[in-house]
Amino acid sequence: MTEAETPLARIIKAEIGKSGPMPVSAFMARALTDPDHGYYTTATPFGVDGDFITAPEMSQLFGEIVGAWAVHVAEVIATAIPDGPIHLIEPGPGRGTLMADILRVASLRPELDARVEVHLVEASPKLRETQRATIGKARPDRTEPNWHAEIGTIPEGPFVLVANEFFDALPVEQAVKTNGGWRRRVVSLEDGNLAFAAGEAAQVPEQFNDAQQGAILETCPPAAGIAKNLTQRMTRQPGVVLVIDYGYDMPATGDTLQAVRRHKSCDPLEHIGQADLTAHVCFGALAHAAITAGAQAFGPMPQAQFLSELGMAERAEKLMAARPDRRGDIETAFTRLVSPDAMGSLFKVMALTSPGMGAPPPFANA
Ligand SMILES: C[S@@+](CC[C@H](N)C(=O)[O-])C[C@H]1O[C@@H](n2cnc3c(N)ncnc32)[C@H](O)[C@@H]1O
Repeated sequence: MTEAETPLARIIKAEIGKSGPMPVSAFMARALTDPDHGYYTTATPFGVDGDFITAPEMSQLFGEIVGAWAVHVAEVIATAIPDGPIHLIEPGPGRGTLMADILRVASLRPELDARVEVHLVEASPKLRETQRATIGKARPDRTEPNWHAEIGTIPEGPFVLVANEFFDALPVEQAVKTNGGWRRRVVSLEDGNLAFAAGEAAQVPEQFNDAQQGAILETCPPAAGIAKNLTQRMTRQPGVVLVIDYGYDMPATGDTLQAVRRHKSCDPLEHIGQADLTAHVCFGALAHAAITAGAQAFGPMPQAQFLSELGMAERAEKLMAARPDRRGDIETAFTRLVSPDAMGSLFKVMALTSPGMGAPPPFANA
């Protein structure tokens, strides 16, 4: 047993020993959301003492700007549909910080706020409790959010959905090009250790037929399924989705599966269940789902452009004027959110909307 071997690694090895290699997608799903040992089920991932920090955890600036955006599009929808609830949805809400910031902004518009019904999609029972506390503080005396295990159980109705670093947590399928053609990439056992290997023959789009040996192609079936569900809803009622994540524009070869533990990258086959596992998001696949359903896609644009065009610099100035003692922290967070060396260009923003809705800001200027 290596020093890094975890209880989940031992379970997965035993399963592979008994039933054979495990597809990368099944491995990623187990590592992140195994009910007993999965990373999101058991770990405390966020912040300096955790494994990574997300934009809303860095500064309220992020949540306020995204909140102002969400309130703007919700008001457009509320004008078109004058009665009934407007669903405000967040899949993968982490500690609930972003939703709490959005709700604080919404509370400044009482007419809209009264119609807002919160829906969270969260796999982790532990994080659901954290979300309950964070959102309860931001929205005292109001009905609690509704939690869902998947998008499909959210009731029909006009909606605004914000997903920050959610799609990158969804399990990817990988195919690897071998001298015997494209094969499904699997996790197997080699001398008692977990190792990536080539499994059964895999179908890939024709454009990748001539890829070099060793090339890896990723797809994310759960992301495609969620995008299909949401964009089909958009054809039945007004809906807007904002996706903020790291990723690429069009399908391309490359292995983006990565593990992070204590703010450092590590081997995805080590620290299983104790390290975050992610893969880059294919924005082109989300746009494709939207267009296939008859909805619209805008972007992606760099996070820096999205936040800047929506006035984050002006908001930072106001915050610093109100809290001169926090000027240093605000400046540091601002730089991390927009700098091309930090999150500014790695993270991208895409909007999906119902057919016929105008481009939401700032995509309208793009
Ligand atoms: C990287 S965190 C993002 C947190 C938050 N959006 C933020 O910006 O701070 C990923 C979130 O997605 C949740 N999650 C991961 N896989 C999930 C799945 N398959 N279904 C539902 N939630 C999932 C995690 O528990 C966590 O809340």
